[in-house]
Amino acid sequence: MKPSHPSVGRARLLFRLPAANVVQFAMRREPQTTGIRALHVILLCLGLSAAAHADVTNEVAASVHAQLKCVDCHAGNAASFPDKRAIAELCASCHSDVRKMNPYGLPADQLERYKTSKHGEALFSKNDQQVAVCTDCHGAHDILKVKSPQARTYAGNIPATCGRCHADEKLMSQYKLPSDVVAKYKTSHHAHLLLDKGDLSAPTCVTCHGNHGATPPGTAEVGQVCGKCHGRQRELFEKSPHAEAAKAGLFNECISCHDNHAIQKASVDLFGKACVQCHAKDPKQLALRDQIVGMIETARGAYDRAKLRVNQATVRGLATEDEQMLLQEANTQITQLEAMQHTLTPEQLRPCATRTEDVVADILRDIHNLERFEQWKRSAIVPVWIFLGVMAVLFWAKRREVERGDPS
Ligand code: HEC
Ligand code: HEC
Ligand code: HEC
Ligand code: HEC
Ligand code: HEC
Ligand code: HEC
Ligand code: HEC
Ligand code: HEC
Repeated sequence: MKPSHPSVGRARLLFRLPAANVVQFAMRREPQTTGIRALHVILLCLGLSAAAHADVTNEVAASVHAQLKCVDCHAGNAASFPDKRAIAELCASCHSDVRKMNPYGLPADQLERYKTSKHGEALFSKNDQQVAVCTDCHGAHDILKVKSPQARTYAGNIPATCGRCHADEKLMSQYKLPSDVVAKYKTSHHAHLLLDKGDLSAPTCVTCHGNHGATPPGTAEVGQVCGKCHGRQRELFEKSPHAEAAKAGLFNECISCHDNHAIQKASVDLFGKACVQCHAKDPKQLALRDQIVGMIETARGAYDRAKLRVNQATVRGLATEDEQMLLQEANTQITQLEAMQHTLTPEQLRPCATRTEDVVADILRDIHNLERFEQWKRSAIVPVWIFLGVMAVLFWAKRREVERGDPS
């Protein structure tokens, strides 16, 4: 990925060509004679110092803004921008203009939404120059369509785009923010799906935080985001005793148990870790937990036993197609149970648990019958062999009798 910080671009220009010092001078952020800036902008306009910014020209030509001229962004004598607010306003001069954006089917609300984000709030109310502005997430000259795999905004590249600041300990400590959010996210099941498997249906930073209207975390919305993808779990959660507590702001929906960034693939082990965070001294709640864990483990144990029996029978050559189907049915019931436990209500789990037990009982009985039939077949074959043996002897005897040709 290209460095998007302007000082890098500036350093690159420095090494170039005679016009470089003019450019460098013109680009300096300190107050300077408008004359030189104006001169530079004129050069920009005329394309006379083209060699000096061949890089920039190429970048723009390859970007989504290929149709723009330098002056579309560097109007007046602003070759560089006094601060990040000016950058946001530059981008918004087109991107907040519905007439300009409509032909491309692009929304025109980025600046407005951005202003409601923590970043935008800090920039516009405190003039904080360290927060992310449009160019920090999109680039300046090398902006691509947001869904292009090379774009900074492409799902797989988002953690790095945010990480440039959010993994910077020095910067984050100024705001008392943790600098391990990216590292933690990378340990999550979501990141595994997205970064290792290329599964774009898993969330990145901006799926949960929003790209422009970055939802300030800690509010109800950011937790509720989980429900957009995990609708069923959310529905079930609504039936749990925590739903009320969540409404009262005493409980963070999903993340109180699953964490926000380091979300792992869930298993029954999570009960061991999650509940004691808040109920270490509540025997009633822990008893309920143990009851639910018991139901899930009993069902899973029964399933595992049935699976083993079916496998053994299959290896011995028995026809177990029907039992394989039943096994799948039992597995579906267990998957249901793992979701249903979000109600934390044993009565809600019972139908699934009972169904699993019934199906497993059916499987075990079927396998038992198959085996008995096989045994019966094996033992049924013995009299046949004896019969055949006797017949052979009789036949042989008869034949000898005939051969002796008793003419009598
Ligand atoms: C889409 C708007 C846009 C276009 C088009 C554009 N620029 Fe820029 N340019 C910017 C922004 C924004 C910055 C400031 C970047 C920053 O400070 O983060 C910048 C910075 C610069 C700089 C300072 C050094 C640097 O690389 O950051 C130079 C030089 C420059 N532009 C030259 C050009 C030239 C030459 C063209 C035409 C080929 C051009 N720009 C086209 C938006 C644009
Ligand atoms: C914190 C990072 C961040 C900042 C700051 C930011 N954007 Fe974005 N922007 C994104 C992401 C991420 C996407 C969407 C990616 C997706 O939908 O896959 C996006 C999408 C867009 C799009 C495509 C249309 C749309 O709205 O989805 C435009 C245009 C855009 N941004 C312009 C801007 C402008 C203008 C600013 C400054 C006012 C800005 N962005 C600030 C991250 C950012
Ligand atoms: C002079 C008008 C103008 C300015 C200034 C401008 N843009 Fe654009 N931008 C456009 C147009 C027009 C498009 C659509 C181009 C297309 O799709 O062919 C676009 C497209 C984009 C896209 C791609 C959206 C998509 O389809 O995925 C992003 C991102 C973007 N601009 C960000 C910015 C940022 C950031 C700035 C400020 C540094 C900026 N733009 C400044 C006119 C402008
Ligand atoms: C240029 C540096 C920079 C980039 C890039 C950046 N951020 Fe930030 N972000 C900050 C700073 C600095 C703050 C602290 C602002 C404050 O608290 O006033 C912040 C604050 C936040 C907050 C609010 C945290 C809180 O509780 O106060 C969230 C959420 C956030 N950023 C998400 C993101 C996401 C998601 C991305 C990537 C799409 C991103 N940021 C990219 C610098 C950046
Ligand atoms: C699955 C949703 C989700 C994803 C993905 C996600 N976050 Fe968060 N993030 C949250 C939630 C929820 C909170 C609020 C935590 C709280 O209130 O305890 C949060 C909090 C934060 C904070 C505030 C710091 C804190 O711990 O209080 C920052 C900064 C942040 N996230 C940045 C990021 C970045 C950068 C990424 C990508 C690497 C990211 N997040 C990915 C959901 C998510
Ligand atoms: C953009 C959609 C999306 C969002 C938002 C999202 N997830 Fe996921 N999540 C997925 C996908 C896709 C999977 C993998 C599908 C699967 O394995 O069932 C997954 C898997 C999981 C898993 C592992 C499931 C398992 O089989 O063990 C947990 C736990 C989880 N998410 C919790 C959360 C929480 C908590 C949040 C909110 C903080 C959240 N998710 C937000 C899409 C999302
Ligand atoms: C009170 C703690 C708790 C809360 C709150 C909670 N979960 Fe879970 N979740 C668990 C436990 C424990 C498991 C593991 C169950 C198992 O595998 O036996 C789990 C499993 C999961 C799974 C994988 C199993 C499945 O259902 O497919 C997903 C996905 C999931 N949770 C998402 C969520 C979402 C989304 C929310 C918020 C609406 C949420 N969870 C709220 C404790 C919780
Ligand atoms: C983040 C803290 C937190 C976690 C984690 C948590 N709970 Fe709770 N729980 C609460 C709060 C807050 C309440 C509502 C106030 C109360 O009744 O104590 C509550 C209420 C309950 C109740 C209803 C109690 C009643 O008498 O009405 C049960 C049952 C319960 N929790 C079980 C569990 C189980 C089981 C787990 C683990 C899977 C769990 N909780 C995880 C905070 C938590």
